[in-house]
Amino acid sequence: MTTASTRELIARAVDAGGAVLAFNVITLEHAEGVVDGLTRANVPGIMQLSQRALEYHGDEVAPILGACAALISAADVPIALHLDHIQDLDLARRLIERAAEAGISSIMVDFAELDRSANVAGTRMAVAEARAAGLFVEAELGEIGGKDGAHAHGARTDPADAERFVYETGVDALAVAIGSSHAMAIRDARLDLELLGRLAQAVPVPLVLHGSSGVPDAELVSAVSAGIRKVNVGTALNVAYTAAVRRVLDSRPALTDPRGYLREARDAVSETVVEFCRVLGSASRGAQE
Ligand code: G3H
Ligand code: ZN
Repeated sequence: MTTASTRELIARAVDAGGAVLAFNVITLEHAEGVVDGLTRANVPGIMQLSQRALEYHGDEVAPILGACAALISAADVPIALHLDHIQDLDLARRLIERAAEAGISSIMVDFAELDRSANVAGTRMAVAEARAAGLFVEAELGEIGGKDGAHAHGARTDPADAERFVYETGVDALAVAIGSSHAMAIRDARLDLELLGRLAQAVPVPLVLHGSSGVPDAELVSAVSAGIRKVNVGTALNVAYTAAVRRVLDSRPALTDPRGYLREARDAVSETVVEFCRVLGSASRGAQE
């Protein structure tokens, strides 16, 4: 199986009226679990690493990126490799330069915490460089809360502003604030589906839902029906991963071999991926039709 590109997976989702699931990975076990889960569900998807995940691995990001790319190229389902929430323009430039050799087909640049003109300027610059490298570019308007771990449900993206932002920056996809928030361990976010409908009408590029771990199943399905074409899931994988480690360590206090708990963590990630694929069902499968 060849590595998929984010552009083609999202284009197929747009044609099918579905959405591509994008899973955030931090460790090798996350990456193995994501590939295993997508393979078991027989659903194409996106594996993504955020700036914070890359920073966890220190100055040299080649080993984790290389491992993700190798897992993807050996997978039996189409999977794309994406860079998520890159907030530092210099880092974005360095990553864009090595994207092709690293098997990366897309990047999300996130300058949403800056004022609007700085967000536009940074995004435009990143788009120009990423385009030249053949990458698909996602950006964010209307800062989606919770990136520091706190819930912030208040932010909303204005449709007219979003339409203008897309024309000003030339982005290929847009993350919008409609009520979800990052890092929610409880799934009780309420999405503003009426606003999402207006955004889908106004914005000429596919829309991305961030903070999907906190969104109940039925709202996820409704969000895809209303126009979301990429669904980002991170925290739910970490909740499952950490719960599995805690369960094993609690029940086996004398355990020293990390394989004893990391195997369970990897399986828990896989199971969570399968569950999200089941919830979005034909919506996520639409990406391969
Ligand atoms: O960009 C990543 C996603 O927005 C993940 O959000 O960790 O709250 O699921 P989450
Ligand atoms: Zn996000």
